[in-house]
Amino acid sequence: MAKHNLDPNYLDPDYEPVVNHSGNKAFQEVLAARMQRRTLMKGGVGAALASIMGLGLAGCGSDSNSNNTNAGTPPDADNASATDLGFTAIAVSTANKVIVPEGYSAKAFLPWGTPITGSYPAFRADASNSGADQEQQVGMHHDGMHFFPIDFKAGGNRSDEGLLVMNHEYINQAALHPDGPTYNSNGMRPTDEVRKEVAAHGVSVVHIKQDSAGTWDIVFGSPFNRRVTGNTDMDIRGPVRGYQKLATRFSNNGTQTRGTLNNCSMGPTPWGTYLAAEENWHGYFANSAQMQPREQTRHGVGSSTRYDWELADGGDDQYVRFNITPTGGSGADDYRNEANTFGYMVEIDPFTPESKPQKRTALGRFGHEGVIFAPVEEGKPVVCYSGDDSRFEYIYKFVSSRPYYAATASGYLLDEGTLYVARYNEDGSGDWLSLSLDDPDFVSRVEAAQGSSVGDVLFEGFENQADILLNTRLAADIAGATPMDRPEWGAVDPNTGEVYFTLTNNSQRTEGQVDAANPNAENRTGHIIRWSESENDYAATAFQWDIFVFAGEQGTETVADGAVVVSLTDDNIFNSPDGLWFDYNGRLWIQTDGSDAPPYQNNMMLAANPETRDIRRFFVGPQGCEVTGVVTTPDVTTMFVNIQHPAKDWPFGNEGDHPRDATVIVTRDDNGVIGA
Ligand code: FEO
Ligand code: CA
Ligand code: CA
Ligand code: CA
Repeated sequence: MAKHNLDPNYLDPDYEPVVNHSGNKAFQEVLAARMQRRTLMKGGVGAALASIMGLGLAGCGSDSNSNNTNAGTPPDADNASATDLGFTAIAVSTANKVIVPEGYSAKAFLPWGTPITGSYPAFRADASNSGADQEQQVGMHHDGMHFFPIDFKAGGNRSDEGLLVMNHEYINQAALHPDGPTYNSNGMRPTDEVRKEVAAHGVSVVHIKQDSAGTWDIVFGSPFNRRVTGNTDMDIRGPVRGYQKLATRFSNNGTQTRGTLNNCSMGPTPWGTYLAAEENWHGYFANSAQMQPREQTRHGVGSSTRYDWELADGGDDQYVRFNITPTGGSGADDYRNEANTFGYMVEIDPFTPESKPQKRTALGRFGHEGVIFAPVEEGKPVVCYSGDDSRFEYIYKFVSSRPYYAATASGYLLDEGTLYVARYNEDGSGDWLSLSLDDPDFVSRVEAAQGSSVGDVLFEGFENQADILLNTRLAADIAGATPMDRPEWGAVDPNTGEVYFTLTNNSQRTEGQVDAANPNAENRTGHIIRWSESENDYAATAFQWDIFVFAGEQGTETVADGAVVVSLTDDNIFNSPDGLWFDYNGRLWIQTDGSDAPPYQNNMMLAANPETRDIRRFFVGPQGCEVTGVVTTPDVTTMFVNIQHPAKDWPFGNEGDHPRDATVIVTRDDNGVIGA
């Protein structure tokens, strides 16, 4: 239920259609649980069922004793008060500006259209820049973002210079062009408009540096400055590479593709690269054939596209490919398989500007919101988590086959391993269910499902592991995963090792579909779940979970061990948690993408002490926006926050119909640690 009503191209529910018709319900005792829960709910908002049942994670997951993975800084775990909040909560707001607490300042930076490469073409306020210009400028609709210290590769953690890498999730066509998108008399679109739209997607790498006065600016001419777009050449890696269902006219052997699209959140790897997620990619492809294959239906591919790129009037191959209706004799003759080259996590090495992005298929193909890496240890597997943001979809974990060694670690670690999907049991335990042909349990479930209907589709098995990964959602249905209330970002507590995920909302969950981990029917405000892996081993196949907090209006309670641990007040009401990030000291930052109706008003960011569950509103965005993407410098004195799809006239005023997504730099006036 993203609040994208400002953008007619981003209509809910078509944008994220319910496509999980598998009917998965992990639990058989829902009715009894629901009766129990009712007696303890207050004010029509959900209480934590898991907690009512006497769970709670006190003592779990303590002392992870390992390295921080977030490109830089070891957490300061010595002091229990290190995660206390030291600022006064700010009120909700309807103002068309960013608001931060007393003693803090906020300033817009790197708005859409900022020139960063090539000939550095200046941004034109009437949006008349060409497609070629846009390829050298910051893209639109900023989202997930990470700051890599410039000396990361040398083991450093400088906080005054680095590479700020950010996603550009999608576009507002109306704002991108002087008069919005246009069509020729024959119904086709001017090719340069399409070129500009494709170029406004993707990823920006921007080399930034503070001057002696502490002001951040772009390092002009830096070889690191780079745009990756919806048309950049990329390799397919991992088990799906070379699979015949990826053969296209562009890459007959199914090993390459062009571009990454709808890059929502991301994840920095322990070796200093950036994984961009491909989330709602289905809307970029059209298949008007009578029957679609399951790898399209399970994602909601339609018969027309969101932006009509396939109608570019020049007929160029890079745009024709978005029409995936079969026309030729085989996959290698047309683009019927083009959508099979999307839906992955895409590795970009910001420190090697000439490097080709790599789509890491072992992490699965679905609506990847982002990815979060667990702390790494020498000789142990690499572990990362990824949510599939659609109603009733799942949370996944990847465990590498090969061990991590800092000296040799790189993307190859993501090409072999086991993909698991989460099942949240009613009693607060959880299981990671493997989606591997090497797992006899999974194989027997696949065999049992053969010939039956999974959802609306007759299931006829998987050809091989590549086919499983191509159809990750279907494999997870069969494995028995728990359908969640739209998993968005994940984060790992650097002090305790607990893994947190936002479940943004799910207005379509019925009373008959509630379960312990998603206990609210018509969940309009969302919640945050967390878990500890068994024995503090991230590669474990079992875990213990609870609910950290339920979002909602004043008085919404979260109950743990029979006691109210959070009761929301004016200082911290919020709805639809989305962005989530632990800073290097272990404060949790929660961003929202919800309704901006009262009582919540504009979208916001809150800080939380994970130990005490003290939650305070820290930041409120301008009108119409979603607040998404947050990172700090290693010393946590500069914070970068992204503002996506702001309303008119933000950030600079007088922009009319061309508002500009931008990063906001937040600093403390005394240069202290943000949030402390
Ligand atoms: Fe792109 Fe799920 O937000
Ligand atoms: Ca969202
Ligand atoms: Ca969004
Ligand atoms: Ca999001």
